[in-house]
Amino acid sequence: MLNFEYYNPVNLVFGRGQIAKLSKLIPQNAKVLMVYGGGSIFKNGVHEQVASALEKHTVVEFKGVEPNPRYETLMKAVKVVKEENIDFVLAVGGGSVIDGVKFISAAANFEGDATEILRKRLRIEDNALPFGTVLTLPATGSEMNSGSVVTIEATQEKLPFGGPALFPQFSICDPSVVASLPVRQVQNGVVDAFTHVLEQYITYPHDAILQDRIAEGILQTLVEVGPKVAENPSDYTLAANFMWSCTMALNGLIQKGVPTDWATHMIGHELTALYEIDHARTLAIIAPNLYRVMFDTKKEKLAQYGQRVWGINADTIEEGAAMAIEKTVQFFHAMGMDTKLSGYTPEYEKTADFIVNRFEERGWKALGERQNITPDKVKAIVELSY
Ligand code: NZQ
Ligand code: ZN
Repeated sequence: MLNFEYYNPVNLVFGRGQIAKLSKLIPQNAKVLMVYGGGSIFKNGVHEQVASALEKHTVVEFKGVEPNPRYETLMKAVKVVKEENIDFVLAVGGGSVIDGVKFISAAANFEGDATEILRKRLRIEDNALPFGTVLTLPATGSEMNSGSVVTIEATQEKLPFGGPALFPQFSICDPSVVASLPVRQVQNGVVDAFTHVLEQYITYPHDAILQDRIAEGILQTLVEVGPKVAENPSDYTLAANFMWSCTMALNGLIQKGVPTDWATHMIGHELTALYEIDHARTLAIIAPNLYRVMFDTKKEKLAQYGQRVWGINADTIEEGAAMAIEKTVQFFHAMGMDTKLSGYTPEYEKTADFIVNRFEERGWKALGERQNITPDKVKAIVELSY
């Protein structure tokens, strides 16, 4: 097992009716900026619950953080933070709103051009504004990690950043919020969380037994509840298991002491930046093809995953691994994903070259757990996805 430190200071407050605890979780004398998206929180009663919990606090609202949050929008919120002397930010929404608030928190005290946080991928170690979250969409795990992804609209770049100062102080996760989600968003959440586990698990055999077993447990749970919760998002038990699986998939636990990949996400972000395809749907397009192209170095873990998660009994590792990829594609289809880029845009033909150029400009010449996903491999993966 590789050496590791596991630091995760998030106070995760889980369950029905927990939004009411906001009044105690945010310091009484704090001036709060409440940040949210396009308005779903007005339709499902979440805004009302937050407002009533914070009736004794001074609250300023910032509306309009878009899915795949934009730097340009977030800088407007940073201006409000400065003008209003805000000292606590509250994200109420899905991954986009939470990621947006992480950027606001980092940029609020940043001297200079804040695009550097993204372009230079600065590690935010201190000087961030404290923030908490009320999660309304299980998917990204952003509620319990210190990462974020922000898009610069002007240049169509979608860039990750983060750092230890960007853990939420608390996150309230009430599974009741799942009831109002459109089926498309539930499907996205299941596939995003599923792929988060795969990124930290489909690498090469190692000796970290527990990490593998936890990863497989999350995958099995998502296979069990995913299709059902998409059909019946009002079922609290399904919603609770879905929500906790998403958080556990990307709160840092299963990546400790093991190699990780993340190339599917890096390529997927480009598809969102170019064509505005939902994040999870880009992963469903790329992941199976990445496993096909990188088959030789990933086949042992693919076969283990096939056997333990899908119950595949194959004669050889190659056969088991190939069947595992097919099972994954079938699962993505069952979760409403189109796994071909041509299903989303008629202008897909130059995508591979464009992405390879961008990666080379950024110096990303070796991705993946073995640093063997080179530009020619990226090209092959994207072309196989057409
Ligand atoms: O904006 P509103 O009106 O709130 O509507 C949202 C949005 O249109 C809606 N929604 C959210 N909760 C709802 C609801 N509608 C009805 N009822 C509710 N309870 O859902 C739509 C999508 O929301 P969004 O926040 O964009 O989705 P998601 O949570 O999937 O977040 C995706 C973003 O997270 C990033 C992605 O790249 C993408 O930008 N990621 C962040 C990660 C992280 N920080 O660790 C890791 C991930 O891999 C991912 O990259
Ligand atoms: Zn993701």
